[in-house]
Amino acid sequence: MYRKDEVAWPAFIVLQIKDDMVRQILLQKESDPSGAVGSPVDSPIGDFYRDRCIFITGATGFLGKVLLEKLLRSCSGIKTIYVLLRGKDDLEPRQRLDELFSMTMFSKVRWENPSAISRVIPVAGDVTLPDLGLSATDLYVLSQNVSVIFHCAATVRFDEPYKKAVDINLKGTKHLLNVAKKMTCLSAMVHVSTAYSFCNKSDISEEIYPEPVDPDKILEASEWMDEKLLGCLMEPLLAGRPSNYHLTKAFAEILVQKECGGIPTAIVRPSIVTAAAREPIPGWVDNMYGPSGFIFAACKGALRTMHVYPEIAVDCIPVDYVSNMLITVGWHLGTRRPNAMEIYHSSSGGLNTLTWGQLERATYSLALRHPPSALFRYPGGSFKSSRLLNELSLKLEHHFPAQILDLGARLMGQEPQYVLFATLVLCHVFLPIN
Ligand SMILES: NC(=O)c1ccc[n+]([C@@H]2O[C@H](COP(=O)([O-])OP(=O)(O)OC[C@H]3O[C@@H](n4cnc5c(N)ncnc54)[C@H](OP(=O)(O)O)[C@@H]3O)[C@@H](O)[C@H]2O)c1
Repeated sequence: MYRKDEVAWPAFIVLQIKDDMVRQILLQKESDPSGAVGSPVDSPIGDFYRDRCIFITGATGFLGKVLLEKLLRSCSGIKTIYVLLRGKDDLEPRQRLDELFSMTMFSKVRWENPSAISRVIPVAGDVTLPDLGLSATDLYVLSQNVSVIFHCAATVRFDEPYKKAVDINLKGTKHLLNVAKKMTCLSAMVHVSTAYSFCNKSDISEEIYPEPVDPDKILEASEWMDEKLLGCLMEPLLAGRPSNYHLTKAFAEILVQKECGGIPTAIVRPSIVTAAAREPIPGWVDNMYGPSGFIFAACKGALRTMHVYPEIAVDCIPVDYVSNMLITVGWHLGTRRPNAMEIYHSSSGGLNTLTWGQLERATYSLALRHPPSALFRYPGGSFKSSRLLNELSLKLEHHFPAQILDLGARLMGQEPQYVLFATLVLCHVFLPIN
């Protein structure tokens, strides 16, 4: 179980870390038995993955990267890891993979076991395309060799258009299932969902709840309906869910349940995935969404208020806990081969509940003890449970100072940017993902 103040570590790490500090941090952690950073070990899980081929979608994402790093470092006997990659920003899949491995978070793998990296093979594809857009050769190679699948690819944006959310989260899962069915030696398929796919229910257990429409009907409709019409169909199905992200993840779960057939399958539902507690580097995070965005902006002094009830739980789970769970679930499926599909929640729940009030206190205390080098303003502020007080604080502490600064910039013949900046900070922090 992670310590609650660890959730605020990115306040320290993200703002201060330099590449040459990484080795020092890792070495310190290794000598500290309570925070031992996992190195290759002889374990039943390591044994299970030995000589197996793994297929990962979403390996360039926040969770996928940590999963890939952990597999390379702790399951060193793996034969091959195939990662599905699409070309992006003029980079081919191979170039994207090279860029990925040049990241600081892969330092330990590069130092300790550089040959492991050569066992990762990029396969060009896109989950929105039939057969994941794989070439005939890649499809054949995967179908003959893959033993464990981790399906992490998704769009996690709350404001994605319906068509795109359906395409990536639902159709993408359908295409993955079709490819999985062609695999001749598949021992485990782990589908990553979210703890909030059925957040419109008051109690959520390890089960899938029925929806009034079959996911295949949604897929059929999305083929010919335009965005507006699809929205008309899907909006009533939200049934209290905050966004089409949650809805499409719920439908994807139903699809997995319907179609996984004889494949040993599990759905893992993380809550809000936050910075690493220990691995690959304590505090490592590469996005600024949700609580991480609040921590970053508050420590920089860019954010001074939020409309939050301090006693409400913010269910965070460090990304390394989730990736460890995925690997363990893969092992469990492959060794026990359960008859029915399994569902796991990866969350703090009632065992280690963190409230927004506790997060606020941990963040500000860390920000004052380890102030970032480049501050926007002195860190400070507070959550407001009153909407009115929050609006007032937004006007006085965000918009008004930004307008004064923009006026000053205009008078000096510079481009006004502070109102835009303040708006961006607020939009970013208030668009959480999970
Ligand atoms: N982050 C959280 O707090 C959280 C909480 C609960 C559950 N989850 C679940 O965890 C999983 C991973 O989330 P994340 O936070 O790692 O998301 P992320 O950082 O946004 O990564 C998304 C990944 O999906 C890939 N992807 C998106 N569209 C694709 C497409 N059309 N074809 C192929 N790959 C595509 C992205 O590839 P590109 O690099 O090419 O864009 C990226 O690797 C998701 O299933 C999400 O629902 C996340």
